[in-house]
Amino acid sequence: MNFNLSEEHKMIRDAARDFAQNELLPGVIERDENQHFPNDLVKKMGDLGFLGIMVDPKYGGSGMDTISYVLIMEELSKIDASASVIVSVNNSLVCYGLEAYGTEEQKQKYLTKLATGEFVGAFCLSEPEAGSDATSQKTTAIDKGDHYILNGTKNWITNGGRADVYLVIAQTDRDKGSHGINAFIIEKGMEGFHIGPKENKLGIRGSDTHTLQFNDVKVPIENRIGDDGSGFRFAMKTLSGGRIGIAAQALGIASGAYELALKYSKERKAFGTEICNHQAIAFKLADMYSDIEAARYLVMRAAWDKDQGKNYDVSSAVAKLQASKVAMQHSTEAVQIFGGNGFVKDYHVERLMRDAKITQIYEGTSEIQKIVISRSITKD
Ligand code: CAA
Ligand code: FAD
Repeated sequence: MNFNLSEEHKMIRDAARDFAQNELLPGVIERDENQHFPNDLVKKMGDLGFLGIMVDPKYGGSGMDTISYVLIMEELSKIDASASVIVSVNNSLVCYGLEAYGTEEQKQKYLTKLATGEFVGAFCLSEPEAGSDATSQKTTAIDKGDHYILNGTKNWITNGGRADVYLVIAQTDRDKGSHGINAFIIEKGMEGFHIGPKENKLGIRGSDTHTLQFNDVKVPIENRIGDDGSGFRFAMKTLSGGRIGIAAQALGIASGAYELALKYSKERKAFGTEICNHQAIAFKLADMYSDIEAARYLVMRAAWDKDQGKNYDVSSAVAKLQASKVAMQHSTEAVQIFGGNGFVKDYHVERLMRDAKITQIYEGTSEIQKIVISRSITKD
């Protein structure tokens, strides 16, 4: 196994690092404070190829591998996890879902615009009564021959107000359970599709989270993704890749907090010396460093599995479970190292701590990752 990044990977990482420092950092506190969705930055990320990182260039993508995706996600997330979740959803849920399971017509019509950032995508699985219990879909899509009639509510949808294209999961045949679920492409502006108010959140406040309502929305049959009844498998397979993106986001939050805390500990003096010379602080830094390194290998392992064409359902769950734990634990420790300064917005670590929490909740809570992992290890 080769642990070294290639020169190309280093260049991609450095480009993302420069973008995060030069473009994301200047307004990140304001966007967090005002829940300001960064339309201008989304355009710039599209121009850099960050919105279609793994998409085939023939569909307008950057044609990079999953390792590159993880490196970009980590660098963006060190500075702004709200921006990185826009990237993650667009890449690993929407673009991947369409590229892997869509028809050629769907790819030409939607993927080409999503991969360049001309369109932004959203992925709509969760409902008020179907979050972790994702097979309990209440949203229905009734087959009318050449179209479906969609009714129901989706909640917590990232990019919900801003997106142009929504991949919506719905029950088409309740008697068939999870085999009676389909995924559909819904366009903003379709009659009967309403976007509810924006959620006021603890973290990732620069991202855009909404409830969506579908009232008798007429969906052409050509907007169904994949074979009839394949929608739940589509959602699960797509989420396995999504979890690699969120694991990388968590890794970025943890390493961003660690880098800030390390620098601060070398500058701040107490009892006549820099605080990093107090063992209590030095050991915190050692724990942060080693836990983040461990998380990094798990995230890279999951990305490598995907790039090698191996099954990554479990490695992505392991990476997300561990990286999100490290992000929560060590962003909290970073606040502690900053003392009172850690508690105010100017020093960034309190935002990283607030942002860390979501990585243990979305794209499957930590408990759900343990279900995925435990089912696999006990079955084998
Ligand atoms: N690949 C292929 N098929 C799969 C699969 C996978 N990874 N996982 C499950 N399936 C299949 C099963 O084999 C089963 O099919 P059969 O009946 O033919 O065997 C069917 O799907 C139903 O699976 P389960 O019986 O395992 O279903 P379950 O009710 O026990 O739930 C679960 C499984 C893993 C808990 C799943 O419901 C789950 O992942 N829940 C979490 C939902 C989630 O992650 N939501 C995220 C929303 S998107 C988001 O959050 C984006 C964001 O924030 C930015
Ligand atoms: P619940 O399922 O009600 O869970 C509540 C608690 O019970 C959790 O701790 C959970 O782990 C635990 N629990 C539930 N079942 C079990 C079990 N069997 N065993 C052990 N513990 C269990 N969804 C989308 O579809 N698209 C998006 O773009 C999206 N973006 C989001 C953005 C944000 C900011 C947030 C907050 C959520 C987003 N979600 C999105 C929804 C997210 O995926 C769900 O919140 C998550 O899957 C959990 O579902 P729930 O909130 O209904 O919690």
